[in-house]
Amino acid sequence: MVDRQYWWFFKGYDVKNNKVWSRSFKEFDLDTLAQRYQTPIYFTNGKRIQDKARLIREAFERHYCGPVEINYAVKANYCPQILDLIALLGLGADVVSPNEAILAEQRGIPKEKIMFTGTSVSKEEMELLVKSENYKINIDSLSQLRKLREHRDEWNIRGLKLSIRINPNIGAGHNPDVITAGVRNEDGVPIKFGIEEAKIIDAFLLAREYGFYPDTLHFHVGSGWLGNDVENFRLALRNTLRVMRELENHGFSELNLDVGGGPGIRYKESQESFPFDTYARIIREELIASGVKIKKLILEPGRSLVGDSTILLTKVNTVEEKNGILHAYTDASMGTLIRPKLYHAYHEIINVSNPNGEFYHYSVDGNVCETGDTFTQDETRAIPEIREGDILGILDTGAYGDVMSSCYCLRGRANILMEYKGSLVECSKGVEDLDQILYRFRTNVKLQP
Ligand SMILES: Cc1ncc(COP(=O)(O)O)c(C=O)c1O
Repeated sequence: MVDRQYWWFFKGYDVKNNKVWSRSFKEFDLDTLAQRYQTPIYFTNGKRIQDKARLIREAFERHYCGPVEINYAVKANYCPQILDLIALLGLGADVVSPNEAILAEQRGIPKEKIMFTGTSVSKEEMELLVKSENYKINIDSLSQLRKLREHRDEWNIRGLKLSIRINPNIGAGHNPDVITAGVRNEDGVPIKFGIEEAKIIDAFLLAREYGFYPDTLHFHVGSGWLGNDVENFRLALRNTLRVMRELENHGFSELNLDVGGGPGIRYKESQESFPFDTYARIIREELIASGVKIKKLILEPGRSLVGDSTILLTKVNTVEEKNGILHAYTDASMGTLIRPKLYHAYHEIINVSNPNGEFYHYSVDGNVCETGDTFTQDETRAIPEIREGDILGILDTGAYGDVMSSCYCLRGRANILMEYKGSLVECSKGVEDLDQILYRFRTNVKLQP
């Protein structure tokens, strides 16, 4: 039988002898891998991350002249070995909690390449970040600026370099909940991020008056947008550059410009891959048109670096028809991967045990007690025949996958493996067991009758 060809091979897969293989891991196929290790498994292809970093860099080399720094958005996936790879690639880190900053540094990302962008930051966190650890921070609310002023002398931070985050008024994203600019998202939820355009000049002036040195203007429109939203990004950039021009009139010249993250990935066959060439060209064009001179351009990609590097391998426990619908019940759940439930997100589902099988329509479900615990939500999916014991692969789960997981129903979080230089790296101690899940409850308190 001729092996079937699939649209997702470009992410680093092949089908040979009715099994799915990772092109960069040649020891055994993904079915065998999943049968040898505990499932569910997030299996990351390290080479794909390297390739994506190169692709982004090359697009900017081709279309943008000037220094560019790439700060990986750690929130997308904090797996320590992924951070190792990011450090080896010479990238920096965009972090959103003190713990992310600490882990990024522990894994080898130099402090000077780490920037903290937090929302709702306590005084204690600010103290840790700027006084004890000396990380660069991106001011998201004027209140943060006031806190820094209040403690400036006690923390000895006069002259501190700062970034300030503008809300550029125009957002974009794969779902209303991940659009981070504008006044409200389309569901009416007020946007909590950044400082409004009208207050930015004052924020810079205030920072200077307080004895700090604001050297970066930052914006982030939202996450997971593709080519059709690039023009929204352009408009947000234009708004930001207009403010930068005004800032020049106040003596803030040659600032760094941080355009945040957000480029999406091709989750579906009907989508196009993100046009990094166009993205780089738009940034260059808008900079030229605005006349603004910047010192350095900073990008903060998360999803586009790691999203399509990872496949979630999950074993099918049960296949059964109910009310005329074929259900394939897996050993993963919405606790393992929340995106389909939370965002109605589409993830391609493949049968790595039988990729050449005849297609049937399935609802692919999880193993926790919620009706919404299904990876296919309200639409059944055509998948090559699934038999009990087969391994399904849920594609493109490298970003906002395991990091958003939970132990609902006391089901442990997934096993994590990674391909690096053609070998298998065990990143986790298998699927979390009861002891690991209950670690934080180990207070030695037992209620007595
Ligand atoms: C400030 C900031 N930068 C970067 C990112 C990374 O976004 P993405 O993973 O879509 O590239 C985010 C995510 O929402 C963010 O809030």
